Amino acid sequence: MSERRASLSGDAIVLEGVEKEYRARGGTQAVRALRGIDLRVPSGGRVAIMGRSGSGKTTLLQILGALDVPTRGRALVVGEDLGAMNERQLQTYRARTVGFVFQNFQLIPILSARENVELAMEALDVPTGERRARALRLLDSVGMGARSFHRPGKLSSGEQQRVAIARALANDPAVLLADEPTGSLDSETGEEVISLIFRLAEERGSTVVLVTHSDEVARRCDVVHRIRDGRIVSDPPPSPAPGGPTVREPSREASLGTPARRN
Ligand SMILES: Nc1ncnc2c1ncn2[C@@H]1O[C@H](COP(=O)(O)OP(=O)(O)O)[C@@H](O)[C@H]1O
Ligand SMILES: [Mg+2]
Repeated sequence: MSERRASLSGDAIVLEGVEKEYRARGGTQAVRALRGIDLRVPSGGRVAIMGRSGSGKTTLLQILGALDVPTRGRALVVGEDLGAMNERQLQTYRARTVGFVFQNFQLIPILSARENVELAMEALDVPTGERRARALRLLDSVGMGARSFHRPGKLSSGEQQRVAIARALANDPAVLLADEPTGSLDSETGEEVISLIFRLAEERGSTVVLVTHSDEVARRCDVVHRIRDGRIVSDPPPSPAPGGPTVREPSREASLGTPARRN
């Protein structure tokens, strides 16, 4: 058990009545993307979020990552109340407390793998020399040490996602948020990437919240929450999976969702 997991008792994430409405400029009709989310994630836990396209999964992750703000409700992450922070505190939070992995990697094409990872440390005043050493260590840990000078365009999808994982972990975040991290990968590569995410998170005691359409991936999490029309649907499965009472078996429907419109 890592220090962080041991030192942080209780929940890494607490959401209470979180709602999100998007209102188009000049429009009258609001889109209710989240309609009252209550969620607790224990420190060091692995949670899968499943649901059809448009159900609110990305919005939920963006609120956890402080990339978006709730219209109503409260979001606490490792004891920090996101609604009570000023912009400077939010910037630090985004850089230090959470790491993000996206379906489409979102690496900067003109930077090398190493520079992509280093860039994540810039917000936190990590000295240049240390940035480089840390980036190389991280790239080693995701099996990309030998490719650190390559730009994303020279890397396969799986390799790019490995670099993106190294970047997400650059500041040793307490919470790793992954929005369909295997959505652009073949199943074997996806499996490797998920194993990597779980192994590195476990080593660091990081909490993982990941959005997935894959039953395979969901089964490897402690808990699966299904989201429908902006609400977590908590209907229990017809018959609990043998030996895995805490894992809610995701329904067929959840895995048939079309690819997300955005990430
Ligand atoms: N910036 C935005 N402006 C307006 N509507 C949005 C915005 N982002 C998301 N939505 C809407 O909110 C709902 C949830 O979207 P999203 O969280 O991306 O779903 P998912 O990730 O589950 O596919 C959808 O109806 C989507 O069209
Ligand atoms: Mg999405």
